[in-house]
Amino acid sequence: MNPERADSEVIKAIAERRSVRNFTDAPVDRHVIREIVRAASWAPSGLNNQPWRFAIVWDQSLKEELGRLTRYSAVLKNAAVLIPVFLDRDSSYDRVKDCQAIGACMQNLLLAVHSHGLGATWIGEILKNKERVLNLLELPDRLELMGVVAIGHPLHRNQTSHRKPIEELVVLEK
Ligand SMILES: Cc1cc2nc3c(=O)[nH]c(=O)nc-3n(C[C@H](O)[C@H](O)[C@H](O)COP(=O)(O)O)c2cc1C
Repeated sequence: MNPERADSEVIKAIAERRSVRNFTDAPVDRHVIREIVRAASWAPSGLNNQPWRFAIVWDQSLKEELGRLTRYSAVLKNAAVLIPVFLDRDSSYDRVKDCQAIGACMQNLLLAVHSHGLGATWIGEILKNKERVLNLLELPDRLELMGVVAIGHPLHRNQTSHRKPIEELVVLEK
């Protein structure tokens, strides 16, 4: 890595982003959420098929109903906005590659949230109820839930996390 670029904004955001599960009541700007979704949509995808679709949920009672479908209900209920992310089966050409693309899209989304000074957590546990989420949101069967991102202003920035040392991760170098 070029040392001059090692502390670029992108690398910094990747390292500093943490899952945020506690939010203040401060409102989140709708325009900012559009920008975040736009950043998510700039993820790479196989054949550039862009299989991701987004719902944007501001409605408090809907957030609470979605919260009942996961044990992380407090995170969903207290977030300013929820973004359920879907795979559009009609745009899909290879399930593994499409899921990988949506993973990249969700990471873009989280990094964009962070760069706007907001916080978020990717909620995957709700996937056990993915059909019920679809029914609740009255969305068509061609959409498959991939995760819900809960977004808001962080109550604090005390989150810590850890990563395995690189030596454990690199299985080959020659
Ligand atoms: C596929 C996936 C599913 C996740 N599901 C949940 C979840 O259901 N609830 C939750 O609190 N965090 C969830 N997370 C967040 C992880 O717990 C978190 O990313 C991990 O502990 C590392 O912490 P960090 O994001 O602060 O670096 C999920 C993350 C991913 C990528």
